[in-house]
Amino acid sequence: MTSLAKELSAAAGAAFDAMGLEARFGEVRRSDKPELADFQCNGAMAAAKAAAKNPREIAGEIAAKLKEHASVLSAEVAGPGFINLRVSDAALSARAENVRGDAMAGAEKAPDAAVTVIDFGGANVAKPMHVGHLRSAVIGDTLQRLLRFLGDEVTSDVHLGDWGLQMGHLVTELQDEQPDLIYFDAAYTGPYPAEPPVTIDDLGRLYPQASGKAKADEARNERSQRAVAEMQAGRAGYRALLRHFIDVSVEALKADYGFLNVSFDLWKGESDVDGLIPGLVERFKAAGLAELSDGAWIVPVARESDKKEMPPVMLVNSRGGTGYHTTDLATILDRMDTLTPTPERMLYVVDQRQALHFEQVFRAADKLGLIAEDKLEHIGFGTVNGPDGKPFKTREGGVLRLADLQAMAMEEADKKLSAANLPADMGAEERFNVAKKVAVAALRFSDLMNTRTTNYVFDLDRFTSFEGKTGPYLMYAAVRVKSVLRKAAENGHAPGKVMVTEDTERALVLQLDGFGAALLGAREKRMPHILCEHLYGLAQAFSSFYAALPIASETDAEKRASRLALADAVRHQLETGLELLGIDVPARM
Ligand code: ARG
Repeated sequence: MTSLAKELSAAAGAAFDAMGLEARFGEVRRSDKPELADFQCNGAMAAAKAAAKNPREIAGEIAAKLKEHASVLSAEVAGPGFINLRVSDAALSARAENVRGDAMAGAEKAPDAAVTVIDFGGANVAKPMHVGHLRSAVIGDTLQRLLRFLGDEVTSDVHLGDWGLQMGHLVTELQDEQPDLIYFDAAYTGPYPAEPPVTIDDLGRLYPQASGKAKADEARNERSQRAVAEMQAGRAGYRALLRHFIDVSVEALKADYGFLNVSFDLWKGESDVDGLIPGLVERFKAAGLAELSDGAWIVPVARESDKKEMPPVMLVNSRGGTGYHTTDLATILDRMDTLTPTPERMLYVVDQRQALHFEQVFRAADKLGLIAEDKLEHIGFGTVNGPDGKPFKTREGGVLRLADLQAMAMEEADKKLSAANLPADMGAEERFNVAKKVAVAALRFSDLMNTRTTNYVFDLDRFTSFEGKTGPYLMYAAVRVKSVLRKAAENGHAPGKVMVTEDTERALVLQLDGFGAALLGAREKRMPHILCEHLYGLAQAFSSFYAALPIASETDAEKRASRLALADAVRHQLETGLELLGIDVPARM
């Protein structure tokens, strides 16, 4: 559905074009001075500069044309050549009705929708997820929802870390505990039992146990490294264990991600592309892109123009092993070869600290002709810090595990609900479900509302508050709109024709009008906070409208029906937007 801003931009663009000036100067946006204008167009100044003409004259001509537009009430030139626009009540009323009845709540599909892979989550098998993985999960999942909504064909892949030293640690530590397991008999090659020999708790215990020993004892570390090498070389018993470790971990990960409303199409991992690695290495060699250096095969990716040091890609190390660079390259190959339709873009939602890694991988992928470098994007993000400004840790000093985080958020949400005025007849189960929604809203929104690339301070007390720029505040705003509508319905009052007249109504519809631009902006920049800002602005505009005017209690039937319809448009857009953020709205609270 076309927004008023877009409609006016098109009209202004046509007016510029008619004067022989570029249509792009016609961009119209919401005015930052609502007391003076609804919208403004600032293009006359730039157009005048380009054409060496007088900006006020150009602005005057454009304004005169815009006055003829059906939606425009007034168009005035101000200052050096700003055009201030007011739109008519009728145009705003029609727009509100559009939003209310539109499947996309007033937004439009992206003009450049593409087949896109989003690689996020990235948890490591056997190692607990930490808050860095939380950011990847929440940002990545929001991007997948947003891009799908706007028409991109998205495949999401969790890309588990399941090919590193930790697998060697697990194998060797398990062997020390249960040496008689059939998996360790090198002469035996299967079949192996279907039941895993370990639980997720075993994995959680074995890994730190082994990595602790390996840190203190180089020989112990060597043993794990040898085990990985044997596993990578195809030792059957180790491969069978790997499969069990992955399956057991994935089951636990699904629960962790599920709590956060995060889902993936593909549950692939580094180990899945193992079979592609020899062929990939051959291709690099055959293309003359790989070089032998100190016994290792490397792919130089540095360029003359580089401002920073750009080390080569490590294709095969001097022990003959392959690591993070190679599995990522093989994964690109796999996706290009097996996904249909063939991906046109891949987004990697991973910690900013891995920027160099992705730069190297992307350059190498391009060199080999797998996919163009500019179609591969690293969507980096900052760290989650504690009150001391350093990366967040638990009191014991360890990195926080996602499961603990959930428990903490639930506890805090429950506290906040105790202080809130919940419906008297709310039972324990309903309350638990509301607390869960509050906890998820708090965790997701507090992460998403920050500019992706900045660090933020973890503060559960603030995140779970029903006041301020928080997920629970927005959730509560949506519940309140719904309850206004429900109570009106109980009294037999239905929404009707919108007739915008009051200032708070105008402001509310102008805010509704910006939804599509916010979504497209968030998609283009891969910045979910743009959507968060829009929804927060919408909740505030509704709050002002609600405070200023009676809605369900309005006695004039036409006004009441109009305000209920406005409230319903807000409900629709708020719920649609919150769903894109992965935040559920309870029926009541
Ligand atoms: N497992 C990695 C980590 O914990 C993240 C994986 C990110 N995705 C990728 N394709 N490299 O750091």
